Formats: sequence, structure tokens, C-alpha cells
Amino acid sequence: MLKKNGKKLDKDIQKNKILLLGKLFATLAHEIRNPLSVLKINLDLIEIPNSKTEEIEFHESISTSKEAVERIETLVAQTMEFLRGGGEGKTHVSLIEVAENAHKFLLFRANKDNIELITEYEADLPKIVANKNEILQIVINLVNNAMDAVNTDGYIKIKTYSAGAEVVLEVEDNGSGIKPEMQSKIFEEYYTTKKGGTGLGLAVCNEIAQKNGAKLEFSSKYGEGTSFYVRFKKIGEV
Ligand SMILES: Nc1ncnc2c1ncn2[C@@H]1O[C@H](COP(=O)(O)OP(=O)(O)OP(=O)(O)O)[C@@H](O)[C@H]1O
Ligand SMILES: [Mg+2]
Repeated sequence: MLKKNGKKLDKDIQKNKILLLGKLFATLAHEIRNPLSVLKINLDLIEIPNSKTEEIEFHESISTSKEAVERIETLVAQTMEFLRGGGEGKTHVSLIEVAENAHKFLLFRANKDNIELITEYEADLPKIVANKNEILQIVINLVNNAMDAVNTDGYIKIKTYSAGAEVVLEVEDNGSGIKPEMQSKIFEEYYTTKKGGTGLGLAVCNEIAQKNGAKLEFSSKYGEGTSFYVRFKKIGEV
């Protein structure tokens, strides 16, 4: 199914990345507003100091302003890294770092929709060999799908753990689940049940997983929820 034309799949990977970036930039634009309004209020305070609490307020304003600037810096830097990244090939990658990046990206939508976005990382998790940016693309797709399935008031867990010869990244949700008769179709290109969906997300995740020597699997119970697993070989295991 996926072993078609390599060029076409590369194009699909790019198309999916642009779609994800569009969503991320929209999030970024919203998220930058908060720290910007903090900065504005603080600048007003500094500009028009008032008598008694002057010095304390001044210092507080400086430190909350710095935090606001740092927040904007991190968000912009992360988005730019995802935009430009990918060309660096395979390196030793910490799945925890990738999961953390995805978490930071997606927290805004999770908060907005009242979805609990939880992370669970196993200590001393061995690194894997992969293209960091491509793995981030997988995680963002999986969490976006989970958020669509959960809708509101649900939870999503991003977990990383080792299991025998493998290191696993799992995205678990308590959303709609997938109907048994649909489960064989979800990895097909253009298969979507969403208004406005491209149906490329999982096909691309599957392709990227294979390119990085990983396997993408899932288990789902209709009406209860779904887990997707990205299974990487531990370094040195065949
Ligand atoms: N966590 C999930 N829970 C329930 N259904 C899911 C989940 N993940 C995927 N699906 C189902 O698999 C289909 C295919 O997913 P895929 O990511 O390939 O495309 P999409 O999400 O529909 O579109 P796009 O990725 O462009 O937004 C979805 O339309 C949905 O029906
Ligand atoms: Mg999707």
C-alpha cells in the first residue's frame, strides 16, 4: 500500500508537514498574545511608577517581562526548528526530548479544549537513532488525531518507555475509539472520517516510522479510546 512511488510519498510527507505548520503558526499567533499583553502592562507600570510599592513592582515587572519574552522566544525557536529541521539526518535522539517538544506545541489547543495532556517518561530511557524532526512530525500527528477523537474534557497521555529490545513512544487517548470495520483502513492515504481532513496523517506517520526503522501500531476499542505505539529498536539490537 505504501510501497508506491517514493517521490509521491516524500511529497505527501511535505504536504502533511506544511499542514501541521499551518496549525502550529495559528497556535503561535494566539499564544504570543498572552506574553505580549503581560509585557504591555509591565511597560505601562514602569512608565508611570506609583509611589509606595514602586521598587518591588518595578522588579516584579522586570522578571515577569523576562519570562514573557522567554516564552515567546521558545515558541518561535521551536516552530522555526520544526520548519527548517529534517535535513540533519539520523542522530542519537532522546524520545523524551521529542515528546516534550510536541507537548509544548500542543498544550495550547489542549488547554483551549479542556483536554488533559499528560506526559509519562521512564527514567534512563535509552536514546534511539532517528531523524528527530521526523519523529516530532509523527508525534504531532498522533496527538492531533487524539485531540480530534477526544474532542473536549478527555485526556491524552504521551508516554515513552522501554519494552524488551524496543523503545516505545505511545500516544493514548480516551476518545471515540475506532470502529472495528474501519481499523484496516486508517493507514490508507486519503482515508479520513473528518470534515476538512486530508487522510494523509497516518499514512505519512507510517512511512516516516519505516524510514526511521520503527513500527507504527495501534490498539483501539470503539467507544473507549485508542493507543498508537511507535516502536524503535534499541541501539545494538537487530
Ligand atoms: N486517536 C484516534 N481516535 C479515533 N480515530 C482515529 C484516531 N487516529 C486516527 N483516527 C481515524 O483515522 C482516520 C485517518 O487519520 P489520519 O491522521 O490519516 O487523517 P485525518 O486525521 O482524518 O486527516 P489529517 O491528518 O489531514 O487531519 C481519521 O479520520 C480517524 O477516523
Ligand atoms: Mg490526522
